[in-house]
Parts: sequence; C-alpha cells; structure tokens
Amino acid sequence: MVSPGARGRRAEIHLVAGARPNFMKIAPLLTRLEEQPGFRPTLIHTGQHYDDTMSRAFFEDLELRPPDVNLEVGSGSQAGQTGRIMSAYERLVLDRPPDLVMVVGDVNSTVACSLVAAKLHIPVAHVEAGLRSFDRSMPEEINRILTDAISDFLFTTCSDADRNLLREGIAPEKVFFVGNVMIDSLMRVREKAGRSDVLGRLGLEDRGFALMTLHRPSNVDQEDTLRGILTAVERVQKHLPVVFPVHPRSRKMFGRFGLEDRIAGLDGLRLIDPLGYIDFVRLMDRARLVLTDSGGIQEETTVLGIPCLTLRQNTERPVTVDRGTNRLVGSDPERIVAETERILKEDLPGTHRPPLWDGGAADRIVTILSQKMLSASKGGSEQ
Ligand code: UD1
Repeated sequence: MVSPGARGRRAEIHLVAGARPNFMKIAPLLTRLEEQPGFRPTLIHTGQHYDDTMSRAFFEDLELRPPDVNLEVGSGSQAGQTGRIMSAYERLVLDRPPDLVMVVGDVNSTVACSLVAAKLHIPVAHVEAGLRSFDRSMPEEINRILTDAISDFLFTTCSDADRNLLREGIAPEKVFFVGNVMIDSLMRVREKAGRSDVLGRLGLEDRGFALMTLHRPSNVDQEDTLRGILTAVERVQKHLPVVFPVHPRSRKMFGRFGLEDRIAGLDGLRLIDPLGYIDFVRLMDRARLVLTDSGGIQEETTVLGIPCLTLRQNTERPVTVDRGTNRLVGSDPERIVAETERILKEDLPGTHRPPLWDGGAADRIVTILSQKMLSASKGGSEQ
C-alpha cells in the first residue's frame, strides 16, 4: 500500500457516484474526506443517471459540490453501459492514477470503476459491501459479488454482510463494520426536510397517504407482474391516496404496456415526477406506509419507524426485516392488499435502529483509511 503521507503529499481518493442512490451515500464521505488534511478527494460522476430529477436535484439537496469529472456515459444495456463507464474511467485513471478508488452501493458504475482500478493495481474501497439477496437474476447482485471480490477495503453496514463476505473467502482483515452512510445523510437532512412544503404542494394529509416507488426490472419490465402490482394499487388507493414518484424506467414501461389510461383512471393514485432528496425524506417521514422495491428505502423507513412493504421476494437487507419495519410481500396483489390493510389497522411501529446506524459511518470509514493509508504521518489528523 502506498504511504502518501510519507512523501508529504495528500492521498488522492476518487469518490465514484453514478446513479441516484449513490449521491446520498457519497455526500457524508466527501465532507469527511475533505476535512482530513491527508486526503484529496476527487468527485467522479459517471453520468449513469443524467436527468435533473435523478441527479442534479440531489447535488442541490445534499449541498454537494459539482463533480470534478463527469464521464457522461448515459443509458444503455447492462454490458453497453458498464463497458462505456470502464473505457471512459480507464482513460481518466491512466492519465492520472489516484491512490484509492472508493465506490458505493451496487450499481453498474460501482462494478465498472472497481474493475478498472483493480486491473491497474489501484486499491479499491467498497462502501456498503457484503449485502446479498442470493438472487443472481438481479444485476445489482452480480455487481455486489464482483465488486467485493476485488476490493481491498470492505466497509459493511451490518453483521450479516460481514458473515456473507467471510463465507465467500474474503480475508477478515479487509472487512470493517462501520454502519450506514445512507443513514448519515438521512440524519443530516431530517430537520431540513421537516421544513419542506411538499405535503401542502401535493395536497396530502399528515399520515394520510401511502408512498410508492417501483423501478426494479423484475417488477416493471415484466408485463404480467406490473399489471398485478397495478391491480393491488387499484385496491390500496380506495383506502388512502397513493403518491407515486415515477422512475424513468417505469414511466417508459407504462407506455410500452399501454397502462397509461388505466393509471389515469385511478382517482387515488397520484403519479408525479421523481422527487429531490429533501422532499422525498419528508414524504417518507410523514407517510402512513411505504410500498417499494428499492433497497435504500427499506433502510430509511426502518430508521424513521414507518411501515414498509417491499414488493420483492427477497432482500439483501435482512436487518430491516429482523429489526426494522420492513416486510417482504413479493408482487402478489392479494398479499400486498392484505398486508396494507393489516398495517392500516395497527399503530405505527417504533423506530428500531440497527447497530451503528447512528450518523457516524463516514467518520469511521475516514478514520480507518487514515490509519491504513497515512501511516507514515502518524495516522494524520483523524476526527
Ligand atoms: C439503476 C441501478 C439500480 C438503482 C437505480 C436507482 C444498475 C444496474 N441499476 O437502475 O440499482 O436502484 O439505478 O434509480 O446500475 N433513465 C433516464 N434518466 C436518467 C437515468 C435513467 O431516463 O437520469 C432511463 C434510461 O432510459 C434507462 C432507464 O432509465 O434506460 C434505466 O436506467 P439505468 O441507470 O440503466 O438503470 P436503473 O433502472 O435506473
């Protein structure tokens, strides 16, 4: 491992983000890295997500400075998009190799940039390592397994992730249980989100609505599955309004399967454009329940103490079910409706915060990296 501190220069860290769920994970890392004088973070946006609502809005809400580099790769097939990110990122890294590449989560940008780095012998740090759905039909599961296999620092959010990594033969000294950087961001913006007027703008009553998100290929790319979920929503919206910020992939599929008229005919279903982070946190915090197939929302609702029905057969985040408010309901309409009706009869569950989901994850990560990378400068000035 390089010891940049020994040569009196700062260690350059590439912090990679590409898609919407990455931005709230990198925000606290960037802040902490910039506070550590031994490090010089460079923010790389791959351009996997490029719409204002999927990208720029998050930079504003998270008060993130603009990226130093935008690779502008855009959309494509799995291989097309991953390959374009690799080529563009390799050019950048060959020109000026950093001391460490830090990737977060499980999107195509995560695996693409770690592969480039590992092949050029640049150490890789994976934040949110070790999560496993054990479902290799998900592109994210492939991204997780491959990224973890070639990472040098594996920062985990929960003890089941540590167990998954050790079972796959990852050396224990590479694995660090540090908590959840996404929750660092959630805690940071929660007060600001309390001042958002999004409920008023959308004409919603406090605790009087369900919030829904849906974008997983397994749900929205399959016509039968999508129609089934819509059948469930038809019944749920008779109980309470359902607000649905629509992901571009899902909007495209509604058009492709000719579902737009059916959706427009549902008075209680409100389709809106994707929301920024602060408004979305406000909606999650004040919803009666959340229906989702997202990974991060299972974690955020756990911390906020809001009932969450996950429209998937499995989760890579079992701690949200064991300790949190999450329940897996798949895509069966009867099950979705029955579980919604059950939740509406119950009081709100309390908050169950998993260990180390306390706002201090980014601090722990930067402290560990300082100790490991800046050894010759007595561990740098850790916070
Ligand atoms: C990606 C991630 C997924 C994450 C999700 C959050 C992978 C394999 N998947 O899925 O893990 O949960 O982001 O949103 O990396 N599009 C736009 N504008 C954009 C971005 C995308 O219109 O700014 C459209 C494109 O036409 C594209 C489609 O949405 O074909 C899907 O985008 P893509 O990044 O390929 O995957 P996501 O479904 O967003």
